[in-house]
Amino acid sequence: MSYIRETIVTTVDAKGVPHIAPLGIIAQADGWVIAPFRPSKTLDNLTAVPFAIANYTDDMRIFAGCLTGRKAWPLVPVEDCPVPRLQAALSHSVLQVASVADDGVRPRYFCKVVAEGSHAAFTGLNRARAAVLELAILVSRLHMLPAEKIDAEIAYLTIAIEKTAGAAEREAWGWLMQRVEDHRNGV
Ligand SMILES: Cc1cc2nc3c(=O)[nH]c(=O)nc-3n(C[C@H](O)[C@H](O)[C@H](O)COP(=O)(O)O)c2cc1C
Repeated sequence: MSYIRETIVTTVDAKGVPHIAPLGIIAQADGWVIAPFRPSKTLDNLTAVPFAIANYTDDMRIFAGCLTGRKAWPLVPVEDCPVPRLQAALSHSVLQVASVADDGVRPRYFCKVVAEGSHAAFTGLNRARAAVLELAILVSRLHMLPAEKIDAEIAYLTIAIEKTAGAAEREAWGWLMQRVEDHRNGV
């Protein structure tokens, strides 16, 4: 297995309209692979404009928000790059597509890092943030998972939320749990 970094990827379409999506970027010796499942706006954008920003952020509301229809997170321009970054990024990498391994299900975009930037300090690990990340991944796969697995994972992750969450993590958790409730109720 490869090392995967969980990021918010920003891309733009041919008209320059930005799109943001949580994506795990896969480490290579000389760059990162972005691997979106079809269909995907990120994939369409990378085909139109072969640049992406990998945004490294600890604001878990952005991961949870993207999965629950809250995508209007502030963006700021990046010098010499057609794609903006998240204002909330602690740091970022500018990725340029070097080659594509096409696939009917999940194409792989091999990217080289052409620039990087740092914007704010990393202030340490927090269990609730990790729990929100895990719930976000669970929510992105609800349609594939049996109910018992969903319930068991949420029961475990709830411990970290109850013990260690701040207001932002509670808000992110609440958005995702609403989506889980909707799924349980067949919405
Ligand atoms: C932490 C995290 C990592 C994800 N990684 C991927 C990924 O590598 N590939 C993918 O297709 N979707 C991934 N997803 C789900 C996408 O965020 C989601 O399907 C998104 O809508 C992408 O589609 P879009 O480009 O059309 O917005 C991930 C979700 C989360 C929360």
